[in-house]
Amino acid sequence: MSSSAKTARFGTPLSPAATRVMLLGSGELGKEVLIALQRLGVETIAVDRYENAPGQQVAHHARTIAMSDPDALRALIEAERPDIVVPEIEAIATPVLEALEAEGKVRVIPTARAARLTMDREGIRRLAAETLGLPTSPYKFCDSLAELQAAIDGGIGYPCIVKPVMSSSGKGQSKIDGPADVQKAWDYAMAGGRVSHGRVIVEGFIDFDYEITQLTVRARGADGSIETHFCEPIGHIQVSGDYVESWQPHPMHPKALARSREIAKAVTDDLGGQGIFGVELFVKGEQVWFSEVSPRPHDTGLVTLATQRQSEFELHARAILGLPVDTRLASPGASAVIYGGVDAKAVVFDGVAEALAVPQTDLRLFGKPESFVKRRMGVALAWHGDVETARERAKAAAAKVRPRAV
Ligand SMILES: Nc1ncnc2c1ncn2[C@@H]1O[C@H](COP(=O)(O)OP(=O)(O)OP(=O)(O)O)[C@@H](O)[C@H]1O
Ligand SMILES: [Mg+2]
Repeated sequence: MSSSAKTARFGTPLSPAATRVMLLGSGELGKEVLIALQRLGVETIAVDRYENAPGQQVAHHARTIAMSDPDALRALIEAERPDIVVPEIEAIATPVLEALEAEGKVRVIPTARAARLTMDREGIRRLAAETLGLPTSPYKFCDSLAELQAAIDGGIGYPCIVKPVMSSSGKGQSKIDGPADVQKAWDYAMAGGRVSHGRVIVEGFIDFDYEITQLTVRARGADGSIETHFCEPIGHIQVSGDYVESWQPHPMHPKALARSREIAKAVTDDLGGQGIFGVELFVKGEQVWFSEVSPRPHDTGLVTLATQRQSEFELHARAILGLPVDTRLASPGASAVIYGGVDAKAVVFDGVAEALAVPQTDLRLFGKPESFVKRRMGVALAWHGDVETARERAKAAAAKVRPRAV
């Protein structure tokens, strides 16, 4: 048997020999995956819900559809006939992916089941806590304010955190410190969820020392079997549920690191397939809790553009294509997010040269067509033997970039 059964074919893009990869979601993370695929001569199709999304600007083909619409999604995949479909966001009509995968029409990364289980908080939390028995915060799912209050009174207690089941980047998420906050948290979750089906998770608050992202790669080894590789742990700071700063490596007690990787291995083994996963963990001393997992590159992993021989995006592209991966750190480093700061279309960025004059820094401006005050428009990267110095430099560089309306 030839190795082609295990490794993607490397043909000429825009010809019948091409390997065609479709990204479902083409934001800043998808853009970097697309660039990594482009470098390997893969033909790329960038899909997003709006025109000129960052990834659409660097792909062979750009398509704009509502990926949560099952009919539109199936029609697009059947028309484009990609070899591989790579979900890059959560809000996708995943039953269509499961059906197309079962029909043998397409390979979904890492698997269609993984995309379904992680598309909302319920599938993955029940898998991790109830099926795999991994440690998580105590939690309950609730469909009304009364159920929420009952869950808190029935054992979750205060403080706790309420999150819409369908949401990301902290949207609709808030902390409840006492009975007076419950109504407000419920209303906030209802306004901030992605779809208005009104279901939330309430989680007991974990008073962790720090939180990390354990990037975990499932890739084919020399003998064709799947091997699990770990990147160095990434530390990060979240403000209202959105990442503002990350660094790598985060110093950890060896036992906490080993436990983190055990948990990451258990959950990624179960989700299966090939590709990178961002496993989010809370750590207190030697104790580790599973929080959630992205079956795709993780936003806090943008730092790997400056720190690793192969960034998380290159690792994803390689793993998907059946190629060997190298998760080694090249240098410690840090990332700092650049927010829009204004609501405006076609902004201009001042201070780019000044930012890049900060030693050992780099920049990504994502090219998003519209800025919002709290929209992530770019990221500053820094590398230095000392992580703390890298953090200071990444923040200094980010602060110099100022988006402005024209
Ligand atoms: N049970 C908890 N105890 C303490 N802090 C928590 C808890 N749940 C969430 N947080 C904090 O809120 C952050 C965001 O939570 P979570 O990752 O569940 O939301 P999210 O909307 O999926 O965010 P993102 O999309 O950025 O990963 C966490 O990284 C952590 O800092
Ligand atoms: Mg998270």
